[in-house]
Amino acid sequence: DKKIVIAIDGFSSCGKSTFAKAIAKRLGYLYIDSGAMYRVVTLELLRRGLIKDGVVDTSMLQSILKEINIGFSYDPVKMVYLTTLNGEVVEDEIRSPQVANHVSLVAAIPAVRTRLVELQRELGKKKGIVMDGRDIGTVVFPNAELKIFMTADPIVRARRRLKELQEKGLNVTLDEVLKNIEERDYIDQNRDVAPLRKADDAVVLDNTNMTVEEQMEWVEEMVKRLT
Ligand code: C5P
Repeated sequence: DKKIVIAIDGFSSCGKSTFAKAIAKRLGYLYIDSGAMYRVVTLELLRRGLIKDGVVDTSMLQSILKEINIGFSYDPVKMVYLTTLNGEVVEDEIRSPQVANHVSLVAAIPAVRTRLVELQRELGKKKGIVMDGRDIGTVVFPNAELKIFMTADPIVRARRRLKELQEKGLNVTLDEVLKNIEERDYIDQNRDVAPLRKADDAVVLDNTNMTVEEQMEWVEEMVKRLT
């Protein structure tokens, strides 16, 4: 079988990572969560106190970007990928509302994107990879064999996200989650560098009314035709 690159882009909380992980598992491909990388950089900047009142102090950015080591370790017991920052597992911290509320701001900084795209291309050198994000089909892997653009109704996305956060014991309301989702959609689509948009050759997957299993059947058909 021929191995391919699968690029998955779309709005936040569309179920991209659930979908991408399931595909990677079924095909035996490597899964890379590019959003986690933007979250790690955001966490580092927050820890250093370099984000204040919606403004990022970029004076030390270049050296920070060069120094930090972003990794993914697979936990075979929990069967999940754990994101690491200089070897420390930061999976929970990068999913916190604190990081979620600042990540789009950080992801709009050109120097951050340049560095992370470089790392992403490095990770994707070998075929047999599924990467999800906002600019994977448009910028990171413009030659990916399969590009999928995911979308779903914002209120459905907010409900899914709320459930996840509540399961983690976080105390948030549907309104707050919806507001964060809409804000991130806006910033992601309207930033100057690599705005979120569907690649011309991407196929749209609107999963508002689809189960994960239905989405898998849909994608397996596509992959079969390409490999
Ligand atoms: O996918 P996730 O929601 O974890 O991504 C967090 C944020 O990182 C997004 O809201 C977006 O601002 C940014 N991002 C990006 N480009 C990517 C992946 C994520 O700008 N390829």
